[in-house]
Amino acid sequence: MKTATTIRVAMAALALTGAQVYPTCAPASAPVLPDPVVDADYYDSGLPDPHKVELGRLLFFDKILSGNRNISCATCHHPSLASGDGVALPFGEGPGGLGRERKPGDSPERAVHERVPRNSPALFNLGAREFERLFHDGRVETDPEGHYAGGFITPAKWKLPIGLDNVLAAQAMFPVTSPTEMAGNPGENPIADAVFGNNAAGAGGAWQLLAERLQGIEAYVKRFTKAYPDRVKRREDITYVMAANAIAAFEASEFRADRSPFDDYLRGDTDGLSKSARRGMALFYGEAGCSRCHSGKFQTDHDFHAIAMPQIGPGKGDGYDGGYWRATGLNRALEDYGRGRVTFRASDRYRFRTPSLRNVTLTGPYGHAGVYDSLEDVVRHHLDPVASLHNYELAPDQLPPLDNVLELTARGASLSQNWLSDVRRDGYLLADTWVQRSARLRGNIAAANELAPIRLSDSQVRDLLSFLDSLTDPGARALEYLVPDSVPSGLPITD
Ligand code: HEC
Ligand code: HEC
Repeated sequence: MKTATTIRVAMAALALTGAQVYPTCAPASAPVLPDPVVDADYYDSGLPDPHKVELGRLLFFDKILSGNRNISCATCHHPSLASGDGVALPFGEGPGGLGRERKPGDSPERAVHERVPRNSPALFNLGAREFERLFHDGRVETDPEGHYAGGFITPAKWKLPIGLDNVLAAQAMFPVTSPTEMAGNPGENPIADAVFGNNAAGAGGAWQLLAERLQGIEAYVKRFTKAYPDRVKRREDITYVMAANAIAAFEASEFRADRSPFDDYLRGDTDGLSKSARRGMALFYGEAGCSRCHSGKFQTDHDFHAIAMPQIGPGKGDGYDGGYWRATGLNRALEDYGRGRVTFRASDRYRFRTPSLRNVTLTGPYGHAGVYDSLEDVVRHHLDPVASLHNYELAPDQLPPLDNVLELTARGASLSQNWLSDVRRDGYLLADTWVQRSARLRGNIAAANELAPIRLSDSQVRDLLSFLDSLTDPGARALEYLVPDSVPSGLPITD
């Protein structure tokens, strides 16, 4: 039995003889493997306060945190869908149903305004301290240089309240302020109005309004008092920051997943890895070069790379292409600059964060916009990224139908919501594939690519897939027990 340590010693000996130890050149038989995951890698050494975790669980499933009380965190990060939602791009607040069944209805309350532009990621192991950058573009990050009093670099900048436990808690401040995801649209509810008025943090802002909702529910007051005995003496003491900290404690402890066959292997129990998975592991940490980016204990360097991943959906409003306006009469910017929209550096455009590959067989669709349904397809994309980008075609059922779209129209000072007319609707739908269809916009993504093509045989790809499968913690297949029977608001948990 070779342990991780002896393997590293072997590699060090190689280095002394002057041989190169870059992963791409390493002999397939001697991969440099990460150290096994341990409790100390996680916040609170993996043992957060159970009262906080339980409070966080209830909040995570409670639609009370959405402006129109119709969507919870769990809708897009569901335990039965491996903490994602199983679709390329989610529908946010409005529609009913879960996963692929989630579809806009034909009443204004059940309609949508647009798709959420990015794939809803799985939440596994985000309680490990090394996950210091969240979102596909890393727009929520730890702030070691202390730019902001709140302690984190986020879209709220200096307005982020203080008292957040960690970056995961900082993240939980934001879904509730997104009109499409959870807040709703102006005129629909006071939280949406506050968001529309650019007031998340201030008096009467979205976070305060949410805290007031929670203060008004007796069962939550009890739970907050238990979770924060020193700080919650009266119901008015409850803040949304406390809610975010509890949600983070729940996510960190319940979506921890480090008991895969690969973890067992690193801890010395090598029986669980098939021969094929071992060959795949050698490739991953060797010849195939995967670990140049998918490095460390969770198979991510937490850095940003451009690998020519196709983009579908409405994008993040970056760039501009007059062609779309000429074709449809709609004025929209449909690109997603990824890290570039956070740093404002052109060289960061189309770079996205390297995703962790834990439980990756369960977490499709893949890519920041969910372009690939199958794990094999996204792995093969890496073999020749630019060619794969140019050959990509959106499968007809990859995106759920975008029916029943409401448009927000401003007339003078008043806003109204109207059904999108049939004429405009065709143009609207074209947005989903516009970047991919446009040779120029697609060319921009191709030009930024930094991943060189690599040749792998079909059997090598199969071995890589076996290795990726060995990163699956069996517990991640059975998380339904996390769904509570009921939540303190009394709102339904499913639609
Ligand atoms: C409408 C679907 C939707 C809802 C509701 C939603 N999320 Fe998400 N979540 C997403 C999407 C999409 C992203 C990726 C966005 C991006 O990268 O720009 C994301 C990203 C995240 C991340 C970052 C993961 C990572 O690896 O960087 C966390 C953590 C998270 N969500 C937690 C939550 C919590 C907590 C709530 C409730 C307060 C919530 N989400 C509500 C869709 C949703
Ligand atoms: C240059 C860095 C780099 C290398 C090398 C690399 N990847 Fe990736 N990989 C990424 C990035 C970045 C993404 C996400 C891109 C996006 O969403 O736009 C990704 C996405 C993935 C995904 C999809 C995961 C998800 O949740 O969407 C898988 C699977 C994957 N890589 C496997 C591999 C394998 C296997 C190899 C080796 C053959 C490899 N990668 C080599 C950077 C890299």
